[in-house]
Amino acid sequence: MQTELFNAKTQKENGTGYAGRVIRAGGLVVFPTETVYGLGANGLDGEAVLKIFEAKGRPADNPLILHIAKKSDVKPLWRHVPEIAKRLMDEFWPGPLTLIYLKSDIVPEEVTAGLDTVAVRMPEHRTALALIRAAGVPIAAPSANLSGKPSPTRLEHVLEDMDGRADVIIDGGPCSVGVESTVLSLVGAPTILRPGGVTREMLEAVIGPVRVANAVLNPLGEHETAASPGMKYRHYAPDCEVIVAEGSPRAAAAIINREYSRAEREGKNCVIFATEQTKGYYKGKKYVIIGDRDMPGTLCASLFAALRDDSGGVDCIFAEAVPAEKQGLAYMNRLLRASGFTVLRS
Ligand code: TXA
Ligand code: MG
Repeated sequence: MQTELFNAKTQKENGTGYAGRVIRAGGLVVFPTETVYGLGANGLDGEAVLKIFEAKGRPADNPLILHIAKKSDVKPLWRHVPEIAKRLMDEFWPGPLTLIYLKSDIVPEEVTAGLDTVAVRMPEHRTALALIRAAGVPIAAPSANLSGKPSPTRLEHVLEDMDGRADVIIDGGPCSVGVESTVLSLVGAPTILRPGGVTREMLEAVIGPVRVANAVLNPLGEHETAASPGMKYRHYAPDCEVIVAEGSPRAAAAIINREYSRAEREGKNCVIFATEQTKGYYKGKKYVIIGDRDMPGTLCASLFAALRDDSGGVDCIFAEAVPAEKQGLAYMNRLLRASGFTVLRS
Protein backbone atom coordinates (compact mmCIF):
# COMPACT_ATOMS: atom_id res chain seq x y z
CA MET A 1 0.00 0.00 0.00
CA GLN A 2 1.22 3.50 -0.88
CA THR A 3 0.78 5.82 2.13
CA GLU A 4 0.05 9.51 1.51
CA LEU A 5 1.61 11.97 3.95
CA PHE A 6 0.00 15.31 4.87
CA ASN A 7 1.29 18.07 7.09
CA ALA A 8 -1.45 19.43 9.37
CA LYS A 9 0.07 22.93 9.44
CA THR A 10 0.82 23.55 5.77
CA GLN A 11 -1.99 21.50 4.20
CA LYS A 12 -4.65 22.07 6.83
CA GLU A 13 -7.93 22.23 4.92
CA ASN A 14 -7.03 19.81 2.14
CA GLY A 15 -5.43 17.30 4.47
CA THR A 16 -8.29 16.70 6.89
CA GLY A 17 -11.00 17.09 4.22
CA TYR A 18 -9.38 14.46 2.05
CA ALA A 19 -8.55 12.18 4.99
CA GLY A 20 -12.16 12.45 6.19
CA ARG A 21 -13.33 11.12 2.81
CA VAL A 22 -10.81 8.28 3.05
CA ILE A 23 -12.32 7.34 6.45
CA ARG A 24 -15.86 7.43 5.05
CA ALA A 25 -14.78 5.23 2.17
CA GLY A 26 -13.51 2.58 4.61
CA GLY A 27 -9.81 3.48 4.63
CA LEU A 28 -7.23 3.93 7.42
CA VAL A 29 -5.88 7.33 8.52
CA VAL A 30 -3.15 8.00 11.09
CA PHE A 31 -3.84 11.30 12.88
CA PRO A 32 -2.31 13.28 15.75
CA THR A 33 -4.05 13.73 19.10
CA GLU A 34 -2.86 15.45 22.28
CA THR A 35 -1.95 12.04 23.78
CA VAL A 36 -0.41 9.86 21.05
CA TYR A 37 -1.00 9.31 17.32
CA GLY A 38 -4.09 7.23 16.50
CA LEU A 39 -4.81 4.78 13.64
CA GLY A 40 -8.38 5.63 12.64
CA ALA A 41 -11.22 4.00 10.70
CA ASN A 42 -14.98 4.57 10.41
CA GLY A 43 -16.19 3.47 13.85
CA LEU A 44 -19.62 2.46 12.56
CA ASP A 45 -18.25 0.21 9.81
CA GLY A 46 -17.20 -3.19 11.16
CA GLU A 47 -15.27 -4.12 8.03
CA ALA A 48 -13.21 -0.92 8.09
CA VAL A 49 -12.51 -1.47 11.78
CA LEU A 50 -11.12 -4.95 11.09
CA LYS A 51 -8.42 -3.35 8.92
CA ILE A 52 -7.07 -1.63 12.05
CA PHE A 53 -6.49 -4.96 13.75
CA GLU A 54 -4.74 -6.27 10.66
CA ALA A 55 -2.49 -3.21 10.22
CA LYS A 56 -1.38 -3.28 13.87
CA GLY A 57 -1.23 -7.04 14.37
CA ARG A 58 -3.61 -6.39 17.29
CA PRO A 59 -5.27 -9.31 19.10
CA ALA A 60 -8.95 -9.42 18.08
CA ASP A 61 -10.19 -9.44 21.70
CA ASN A 62 -8.77 -5.97 22.50
CA PRO A 63 -11.52 -3.32 22.03
CA LEU A 64 -11.08 0.15 20.52
CA ILE A 65 -11.95 3.71 21.57
CA LEU A 66 -14.46 5.75 19.53
CA HIS A 67 -13.36 9.37 19.01
CA ILE A 68 -16.01 12.10 18.69
CA ALA A 69 -15.90 15.82 17.87
CA LYS A 70 -18.59 17.14 20.23
CA LYS A 71 -19.97 16.01 23.57
CA SER A 72 -23.49 15.30 22.32
CA ASP A 73 -22.07 12.80 19.79
CA VAL A 74 -21.73 10.29 22.63
CA LYS A 75 -25.54 9.99 22.93
CA PRO A 76 -26.18 7.59 20.03
CA LEU A 77 -23.21 5.40 21.08
CA TRP A 78 -24.30 4.63 24.67
CA ARG A 79 -27.57 3.12 25.91
CA HIS A 80 -28.02 6.38 27.83
CA VAL A 81 -25.68 9.04 29.25
CA PRO A 82 -25.39 8.62 33.03
CA GLU A 83 -25.31 11.70 35.27
CA ILE A 84 -21.75 11.03 36.42
CA ALA A 85 -20.55 10.95 32.80
CA LYS A 86 -22.13 14.34 32.13
CA ARG A 87 -20.18 15.88 35.00
CA LEU A 88 -16.93 14.36 33.76
CA MET A 89 -17.54 15.39 30.14
CA ASP A 90 -18.25 18.97 31.23
CA GLU A 91 -15.02 19.12 33.19
CA PHE A 92 -12.58 17.10 31.06
CA TRP A 93 -13.79 16.99 27.42
CA PRO A 94 -12.16 17.72 25.12
CA GLY A 95 -9.15 16.07 26.76
CA PRO A 96 -7.26 12.88 27.58
CA LEU A 97 -10.15 11.07 29.33
CA THR A 98 -11.86 8.01 27.84
CA LEU A 99 -15.17 6.95 29.38
CA ILE A 100 -16.55 3.42 29.22
CA TYR A 101 -20.27 2.75 29.44
CA LEU A 102 -22.95 0.39 28.06
CA LYS A 103 -23.01 0.43 24.28
CA SER A 104 -25.96 1.06 21.99
CA ASP A 105 -26.93 -1.15 19.06
CA ILE A 106 -25.27 1.01 16.40
CA VAL A 107 -21.76 0.24 17.71
CA PRO A 108 -20.37 -2.72 15.78
CA GLU A 109 -19.00 -5.66 17.75
CA GLU A 110 -15.69 -5.29 15.89
CA VAL A 111 -15.12 -2.06 17.90
CA THR A 112 -15.93 -3.54 21.30
CA ALA A 113 -14.49 -7.01 20.71
CA GLY A 114 -17.87 -8.42 21.65
CA LEU A 115 -18.16 -6.56 25.01
CA ASP A 116 -21.45 -4.83 25.89
CA THR A 117 -19.58 -1.61 26.74
CA VAL A 118 -17.88 0.95 24.51
CA ALA A 119 -15.06 3.42 25.21
CA VAL A 120 -15.54 7.02 23.95
CA ARG A 121 -13.36 10.10 24.04
CA MET A 122 -13.29 13.63 22.61
CA PRO A 123 -9.65 14.55 21.91
CA GLU A 124 -8.25 18.02 22.54
CA HIS A 125 -6.48 18.48 19.23
CA ARG A 126 -7.55 20.71 16.34
CA THR A 127 -6.48 18.30 13.62
CA ALA A 128 -8.13 15.31 15.28
CA LEU A 129 -11.39 17.25 15.76
CA ALA A 130 -11.31 18.57 12.18
CA LEU A 131 -10.79 15.06 10.86
CA ILE A 132 -13.68 13.61 12.87
CA ARG A 133 -15.95 16.45 11.67
CA ALA A 134 -14.85 15.91 8.06
CA ALA A 135 -15.49 12.16 8.33
CA GLY A 136 -18.95 12.78 9.83
CA VAL A 137 -18.73 9.54 11.83
CA PRO A 138 -17.10 8.52 15.11
CA ILE A 139 -13.53 7.37 14.44
CA ALA A 140 -12.37 4.11 16.01
CA ALA A 141 -8.69 4.46 16.80
CA PRO A 142 -6.08 2.68 18.86
CA SER A 143 -2.57 4.08 19.18
CA ALA A 144 -0.81 3.97 15.79
CA ASN A 145 1.95 1.53 16.77
CA LEU A 146 2.51 -2.08 15.82
CA SER A 147 1.00 -4.14 18.63
CA GLY A 148 3.40 -4.41 21.59
CA LYS A 149 5.54 -1.37 20.66
CA PRO A 150 5.48 1.96 22.53
CA SER A 151 2.75 4.30 21.21
CA PRO A 152 4.08 6.84 18.69
CA THR A 153 4.28 10.46 19.82
CA ARG A 154 6.49 11.72 16.95
CA LEU A 155 6.08 11.48 13.18
CA GLU A 156 9.27 9.45 12.73
CA HIS A 157 7.90 6.72 15.03
CA VAL A 158 4.58 6.70 13.18
CA LEU A 159 6.43 6.19 9.90
CA GLU A 160 8.52 3.38 11.41
CA ASP A 161 5.38 1.37 12.18
CA MET A 162 2.67 2.55 9.76
CA ASP A 163 4.30 3.56 6.46
CA GLY A 164 2.71 1.22 3.90
CA ARG A 165 -0.02 0.07 6.33
CA ALA A 166 -2.34 3.12 6.36
CA ASP A 167 -3.84 5.05 3.42
CA VAL A 168 -3.02 8.45 4.89
CA ILE A 169 -0.75 9.78 7.64
CA ILE A 170 -1.33 13.31 8.96
CA ASP A 171 1.77 14.87 10.52
CA GLY A 172 0.80 17.06 13.49
CA GLY A 173 4.22 17.34 15.12
CA PRO A 174 4.99 15.92 18.59
CA CYS A 175 2.06 14.95 20.89
CA SER A 176 1.94 17.09 24.03
CA VAL A 177 0.67 14.67 26.72
CA GLY A 178 2.83 11.79 25.48
CA VAL A 179 0.95 8.88 27.11
CA GLU A 180 -2.48 7.58 26.12
CA SER A 181 -5.71 8.84 27.67
CA THR A 182 -6.97 7.87 31.11
CA VAL A 183 -9.50 5.04 30.66
CA LEU A 184 -12.28 5.22 33.26
CA SER A 185 -15.03 2.63 33.50
CA LEU A 186 -18.42 3.97 34.62
CA VAL A 187 -20.00 0.53 34.77
CA GLY A 188 -20.28 -0.01 38.54
CA ALA A 189 -17.97 1.98 40.84
CA PRO A 190 -15.83 4.40 38.78
CA THR A 191 -12.56 2.57 38.11
CA ILE A 192 -9.39 3.67 36.31
CA LEU A 193 -8.43 0.85 33.95
CA ARG A 194 -5.52 2.81 32.50
CA PRO A 195 -4.08 6.00 34.08
CA GLY A 196 -3.26 8.99 31.87
CA GLY A 197 -3.17 12.77 31.69
CA VAL A 198 -6.43 13.25 33.62
CA THR A 199 -5.31 12.02 37.03
CA ARG A 200 -7.13 10.14 39.78
CA GLU A 201 -6.82 13.27 41.94
CA MET A 202 -8.48 15.40 39.23
CA LEU A 203 -11.33 12.90 38.79
CA GLU A 204 -11.92 12.60 42.54
CA ALA A 205 -12.25 16.37 42.84
CA VAL A 206 -15.30 16.10 40.56
CA ILE A 207 -16.98 12.75 41.34
CA GLY A 208 -15.53 11.57 44.69
CA PRO A 209 -13.69 8.26 45.26
CA VAL A 210 -12.27 6.54 42.18
CA ARG A 211 -10.75 3.05 42.21
CA VAL A 212 -7.59 2.05 40.39
CA ALA A 213 -7.65 -1.41 38.80
CA ASN A 214 -5.11 -3.79 40.31
CA ALA A 215 -3.49 -4.41 36.92
CA VAL A 216 -2.40 -0.74 36.67
CA LEU A 217 0.71 -1.27 38.82
CA ASN A 218 0.86 -5.06 39.08
CA PRO A 219 1.35 -7.92 36.67
CA LEU A 220 -1.86 -9.88 36.14
CA GLY A 221 -2.04 -12.97 38.32
CA GLU A 222 -2.26 -16.29 36.48
CA HIS A 223 -5.98 -16.76 37.13
CA GLU A 224 -6.97 -13.11 37.12
CA THR A 225 -9.09 -11.69 34.30
CA ALA A 226 -8.29 -8.16 33.13
CA ALA A 227 -10.98 -5.50 33.55
CA SER A 228 -9.55 -4.06 30.37
CA PRO A 229 -8.45 -6.63 27.80
CA GLY A 230 -5.49 -4.45 26.80
CA MET A 231 -3.88 -4.96 30.22
CA LYS A 232 -3.02 -8.57 29.66
CA TYR A 233 -0.70 -7.95 26.74
CA ARG A 234 2.99 -7.02 26.95
CA HIS A 235 3.08 -3.36 26.14
CA TYR A 236 5.40 -0.54 25.31
CA ALA A 237 8.30 -2.94 24.85
CA PRO A 238 11.34 -1.31 23.28
CA ASP A 239 13.93 -3.44 21.53
CA CYS A 240 16.11 -3.60 24.65
CA GLU A 241 16.03 -4.50 28.33
CA VAL A 242 14.40 -1.98 30.75
CA ILE A 243 15.22 -2.05 34.48
CA VAL A 244 13.42 0.06 37.08
CA ALA A 245 15.12 1.07 40.36
CA GLU A 246 12.94 1.81 43.39
CA GLY A 247 13.65 3.87 46.50
CA SER A 248 14.46 7.48 47.32
CA PRO A 249 16.09 9.37 44.42
CA ARG A 250 19.50 8.86 46.03
CA ALA A 251 18.92 5.14 46.72
CA ALA A 252 17.56 4.50 43.21
CA ALA A 253 20.55 6.28 41.69
CA ALA A 254 22.93 4.15 43.76
CA ILE A 255 21.30 0.96 42.45
CA ILE A 256 21.42 2.27 38.90
CA ASN A 257 25.09 3.26 39.14
CA ARG A 258 26.01 -0.18 40.50
CA GLU A 259 24.03 -2.10 37.87
CA TYR A 260 25.13 0.19 35.04
CA SER A 261 28.79 -0.53 35.84
CA ARG A 262 28.11 -4.25 36.07
CA ALA A 263 26.28 -4.27 32.71
CA GLU A 264 29.05 -2.24 31.11
CA ARG A 265 31.62 -4.77 32.27
CA GLU A 266 29.51 -7.38 30.48
CA GLY A 267 29.94 -5.32 27.31
CA LYS A 268 26.40 -3.88 27.30
CA ASN A 269 25.59 -0.43 25.97
CA CYS A 270 23.42 1.27 28.62
CA VAL A 271 21.52 4.51 29.06
CA ILE A 272 19.96 6.02 32.19
CA PHE A 273 16.62 7.85 32.25
CA ALA A 274 17.62 10.62 34.67
CA THR A 275 15.54 13.49 36.03
CA GLU A 276 16.38 17.14 36.66
CA GLN A 277 16.75 16.29 40.34
CA THR A 278 19.06 13.30 39.90
CA LYS A 279 21.23 14.04 36.87
CA GLY A 280 24.11 15.01 39.19
CA TYR A 281 24.32 11.40 40.44
CA TYR A 282 25.25 10.02 37.03
CA LYS A 283 28.43 11.90 36.14
CA GLY A 284 30.55 10.06 33.57
CA LYS A 285 27.68 7.78 32.56
CA LYS A 286 25.38 7.96 29.56
CA TYR A 287 22.03 9.47 30.53
CA VAL A 288 19.08 11.40 29.10
CA ILE A 289 16.95 13.75 31.17
CA ILE A 290 13.37 12.47 30.97
CA GLY A 291 11.83 15.33 32.93
CA ASP A 292 11.24 16.80 36.36
CA ARG A 293 10.24 14.57 39.29
CA ASP A 294 8.13 17.39 40.73
CA MET A 295 6.17 17.70 37.47
CA PRO A 296 5.45 14.07 36.50
CA GLY A 297 3.58 15.24 33.37
CA THR A 298 7.00 16.10 31.92
CA LEU A 299 8.11 12.49 32.46
CA CYS A 300 5.04 11.22 30.59
CA ALA A 301 5.64 13.65 27.73
CA SER A 302 9.03 12.19 26.82
CA LEU A 303 8.83 8.54 27.92
CA PHE A 304 7.63 6.86 24.72
CA ALA A 305 9.93 8.89 22.46
CA ALA A 306 12.87 7.97 24.73
CA LEU A 307 11.91 4.27 24.73
CA ARG A 308 11.89 4.32 20.94
CA ASP A 309 15.18 6.16 20.56
CA ASP A 310 17.55 3.38 19.62
CA SER A 311 20.00 5.71 17.88
CA GLY A 312 22.82 4.58 20.17
CA GLY A 313 22.19 0.85 19.75
CA VAL A 314 21.17 0.60 23.41
CA ASP A 315 21.04 -2.84 25.10
CA CYS A 316 19.80 -1.72 28.49
CA ILE A 317 17.79 1.19 29.92
CA PHE A 318 17.87 2.04 33.65
CA ALA A 319 15.05 4.22 35.01
CA GLU A 320 14.12 5.57 38.45
CA ALA A 321 10.73 4.77 39.91
CA VAL A 322 8.77 7.90 40.93
CA PRO A 323 5.81 8.18 43.35
CA ALA A 324 2.64 6.77 41.76
CA GLU A 325 0.70 9.99 42.30
CA LYS A 326 -0.83 12.47 39.88
CA GLN A 327 0.69 11.89 36.42
CA GLY A 328 3.32 9.74 38.15
CA LEU A 329 0.73 6.93 38.18
CA ALA A 330 0.54 6.95 34.37
CA TYR A 331 4.34 7.16 34.11
CA MET A 332 4.88 4.18 36.43
CA ASN A 333 2.15 2.16 34.69
CA ARG A 334 3.91 2.53 31.30
CA LEU A 335 7.44 2.17 32.69
CA LEU A 336 6.65 -1.00 34.65
CA ARG A 337 5.02 -2.57 31.60
CA ALA A 338 7.93 -1.58 29.35
CA SER A 339 10.23 -3.31 31.86
CA GLY A 340 8.08 -6.43 32.10
CA PHE A 341 7.97 -5.59 35.85
CA THR A 342 11.75 -5.87 36.26
CA VAL A 343 12.23 -3.86 39.46
CA LEU A 344 15.31 -3.58 41.70
CA ARG A 345 15.11 -2.43 45.34
CA SER A 346 17.95 -1.77 47.74
O1 TXA B 1 -5.06 8.42 24.07
C1 TXA B 1 -5.62 7.41 23.62
O2 TXA B 1 -6.50 6.82 24.27
C2 TXA B 1 -5.17 6.90 22.25
C3 TXA B 1 -5.51 7.99 21.23
C4 TXA B 1 -5.27 7.54 19.81
O3 TXA B 1 -6.83 8.42 21.41
N1 TXA B 1 -5.81 5.64 21.95
C5 TXA B 1 -5.45 4.49 22.56
O4 TXA B 1 -6.15 3.36 22.14
O5 TXA B 1 -4.58 4.42 23.39
P1 TXA B 1 -5.65 1.88 22.46
O6 TXA B 1 -6.54 1.02 21.65
O7 TXA B 1 -4.20 1.77 22.21
O8 TXA B 1 -5.99 1.66 23.97
C6 TXA B 1 -7.33 1.51 24.39
C7 TXA B 1 -7.39 0.80 25.72
C8 TXA B 1 -7.01 -0.65 25.60
O9 TXA B 1 -6.24 -1.02 26.74
C9 TXA B 1 -8.36 -1.36 25.60
O10 TXA B 1 -8.29 -2.68 26.11
C10 TXA B 1 -9.19 -0.45 26.48
O11 TXA B 1 -8.73 0.85 26.20
N2 TXA B 1 -10.63 -0.53 26.16
C11 TXA B 1 -11.26 -0.09 25.04
N3 TXA B 1 -12.57 -0.36 25.08
C12 TXA B 1 -12.80 -0.98 26.27
C13 TXA B 1 -13.97 -1.51 26.91
N4 TXA B 1 -15.17 -1.47 26.33
N5 TXA B 1 -13.81 -2.08 28.13
C14 TXA B 1 -12.59 -2.13 28.72
N6 TXA B 1 -11.46 -1.65 28.17
C15 TXA B 1 -11.55 -1.08 26.96
MG1 MG C 1 -2.25 1.12 22.34
